[in-house]
Order: sequence, then structure tokens, then C-alpha cells
Amino acid sequence: MIKTRGSQAKTANDGRRWTLRPGRPTDGRALARLFADVRTEGRWLITTPGAVSEPSEAFWIGELIRAEESLVLVAEADGDVVGNVLVSVDRGRATEHIGVLSICIAADWRDVGIGTELVAGAQAWVRERGMRKLSLGVFPDNERAIAVYERRGFVREGTRRQQYRSNDEYRDELLMAWFATEEGE
Ligand SMILES: CC(C)(COP(=O)(O)OP(=O)(O)OC[C@H]1O[C@@H](n2cnc3c(N)ncnc32)[C@H](O)[C@@H]1OP(=O)(O)O)[C@@H](O)C(=O)NCCC(=O)NCCS
Repeated sequence: MIKTRGSQAKTANDGRRWTLRPGRPTDGRALARLFADVRTEGRWLITTPGAVSEPSEAFWIGELIRAEESLVLVAEADGDVVGNVLVSVDRGRATEHIGVLSICIAADWRDVGIGTELVAGAQAWVRERGMRKLSLGVFPDNERAIAVYERRGFVREGTRRQQYRSNDEYRDELLMAWFATEEGE
């Protein structure tokens, strides 16, 4: 069973041990570091390296966790934060049934099953709260992310063309969603 409260000991597909747990306000710095590292790769995230100040992001994440209005799950290994999934909810009456997912795993912890588990945790949270839909945007060439989302039952909703500018390039955004009300997990 996927839990969104409390800590759970896990074993990665390659045998390494990690823990799935809710984020704590004190994770702000470690999470901002993780996001900065992944941005440095320059491929997967909308924000470019250096576009966000790490201390302000750390503060903002700490406040977000403290507010307890979003889901923040953390993957921890050997005392380090190695992964995160965030589900934010737009409080408007017309949109409060929708969670928006973002996810990030440290480079040396990818492809060992953590992302799939974190997405499952996000889906469990959406269901628990009686929400209907979990949505996200992904670059269409992020095949690994798309494979994880499709494995977890997400469907393709459409493409927003040339939605983001990255240096001199315009990149499309594939919109995907999972519906809690449909059959299956
Ligand atoms: C995308 C991401 C969240 C996935 O998490 P992860 O922990 O690496 O994913 P998992 O290990 O659970 O699953 C990865 C699956 O994708 C498969 N995969 C890897 N590369 C692939 C590719 N190019 N095409 C298709 N499938 C691929 C793996 O084989 C694996 O499937 P398997 O378990 O059946 O072998 C993670 O890699 C990540 O944070 N990447 C960088 C940031 C990012 O892209 N965030 C999402 C932005 S929308």
C-alpha cells in the first residue's frame, strides 16, 4: 500500500535502500539544491540554471511544506534527499479538483524505480482527498518521464506548441493527466 504519511523503507531495483517520507520544512535547502542540480542538466525542467535563487527557493519550499496545502514527498538515502514529488492545488472553486504534479530524481538515483513510487504516492494523495485529476506538463522528448507517467495510467491530453523558450529554442509541452475516477490505480 502507498502511504502519504509516515516513513516507509524501500529497496530500489538495484538493491540500494531508500526511504519514502513526507517533506519537512527543514528539507527546503536540500530540495532547492536538488532542483538546482537537475536544472544544471538543462534538459528536463522549464526553469534554466541560475534562473531561481537557491536561498529564496529553499525558503519558499519550507513555507510551502509548512502550509500543508500541497503534497511534498521526499525520497531519502543515506541522509540525503535524492528525489521529490510535489502536488500543488489551485484553490479556485473551478479547479480545486485538480492537482498539478512535478517530480525530480537526482541523476545517480534514476531508473531504479523511485520516480514510479513517488508518482504512485501522488496518486494515492489525490484519491484520499477526493480530488479527480492529476495533471502535468512534460517536454515531448523526455521519454523516460513519459514512460513513467504512462505506466502509472496517465494519458496524453494534447500539446502546447512552442510553449517555452529555452535559450534560442522554442519547446513544445506535452500535457498529461491521470483521472482518479477511472478504473484501476
Ligand atoms: C523522469 C523521472 C522523474 C523518472 O523517475 P525514475 O526514478 O528515473 O523512474 P523509474 O526508475 O521509476 O522508471 C523509469 C522507467 O523509464 C524507463 N526508461 C528510461 N529511459 C527511457 C527512455 N529513453 N524511453 C523509454 N523508457 C525509458 C526505464 O527503463 C524505467 O522503466 P523500467 O522500470 O520498466 O525499466 C526521473 O528520471 C527524473 O527526475 N528525471 C529528471 C527530471 C525530470 O525529467 N523530471 C520530470 C519533468 S516533467
